[in-house]
Amino acid sequence: MRVISIKISGTLLIASAILMLPLSTAVAEDQTVNRMIASQCAQCHGTNGYARGSYPDLGGDEAKDLADHLYDMKGEDRPSDIMDHQALGYTDDQIRRIAQYYSTLPENGGD
Ligand code: HEC
Repeated sequence: MRVISIKISGTLLIASAILMLPLSTAVAEDQTVNRMIASQCAQCHGTNGYARGSYPDLGGDEAKDLADHLYDMKGEDRPSDIMDHQALGYTDDQIRRIAQYYSTLPENGGD
């Protein structure tokens, strides 16, 4: 009887550890994943969302505004300019993550 109760509590311990693991890692890596997805934009919009050339800056944009802008571009019937094609390459969830990431950056690239 004693052996059985040890087994049960051991199983419970492992089960609760497994249940808790995804929760803690999801929170910890979320911003890293968002940053990785958004890094594609850096080619033109600069690292940290601060473009030094003529491209628009993205850092510090409101997440909702940026996401809505990208959803609009993605929804173009006839994608014509660069950004329509860029936006088409992302799922809605990836767009949400990209927008969330840029909203956490300073407007001027931290300079
Ligand atoms: C190949 C270069 C290139 C890449 C990569 C690129 N963009 Fe752009 N983006 C542009 C250019 C050029 C413009 C300005 C002309 C236009 O709107 O098409 C622009 C404009 C924008 C605008 C509109 C800004 C405004 O004020 O109207 C947003 C928002 C934007 N880009 C977001 C993004 C995001 C987010 C990504 C990554 C998923 C991205 N861009 C990737 C070239 C690029």
